[in-house]
Amino acid sequence: MKKIAIIAGTNRKGSNTLKVAKQIREMYQKCGADVELLDLSQLPAEIFTPDAYETKPASFQPFSEAVLRSDGLVIITPEYNGGPPGILKFFIDMLKFPESFDSRPVAFIGIAAGNWGALRPVEQLQQIFGYRNAYIYPRRVFIPGVVEALNDGDKIKDADLKLRLETQVEGFLEFVNAVGRQEN
Ligand SMILES: Cc1cc2nc3c(=O)[nH]c(=O)nc-3n(C[C@H](O)[C@H](O)[C@H](O)COP(=O)(O)O)c2cc1C
Repeated sequence: MKKIAIIAGTNRKGSNTLKVAKQIREMYQKCGADVELLDLSQLPAEIFTPDAYETKPASFQPFSEAVLRSDGLVIITPEYNGGPPGILKFFIDMLKFPESFDSRPVAFIGIAAGNWGALRPVEQLQQIFGYRNAYIYPRRVFIPGVVEALNDGDKIKDADLKLRLETQVEGFLEFVNAVGRQEN
């Protein structure tokens, strides 16, 4: 069973990214993956100290270990001022390198209130993950107008968009099988 870690890329209270991330988690579970959802609003306070660059607090270990044991990472990023949220970059900077991203398959989903669906942050992140030698899954999904895109139950309304996300889930799992690390 492939292990997928989903990173919901913000710590904003009431985040739409987290709502979508929960739906993506269900999609991976339906496909038989073992999924962990990393919610950056749950990061421990001790990680936000100057010392954390040098010595990681034990409370950060569940986050760093989830990334390290994953066969594939799914990054779901909102757009904040034309880029990914600062906390997502900070989280990336707190992870062990190079092993957190080197040769690890990564897929991207962008979410924005605006019309561009976080194209900019996704492309900026592709540059970062490319630099870190991740295996980038080329089929990205963008969700523009996210506020209107969700129903009262916080689920995506549009059948076509849902299908694109499901197609990405299936395709990414095939990609993980093809290029990823072998099962232990
Ligand atoms: C600090 C901040 C900056 C934002 N900048 C943008 C932006 O540049 N473009 C855009 O389309 N939406 C922007 N938004 C709106 C987000 O896209 C919106 O909050 C959306 O629901 C996804 O983020 P969320 O997970 O925080 O809900 C911004 C939101 C915040 C909190």
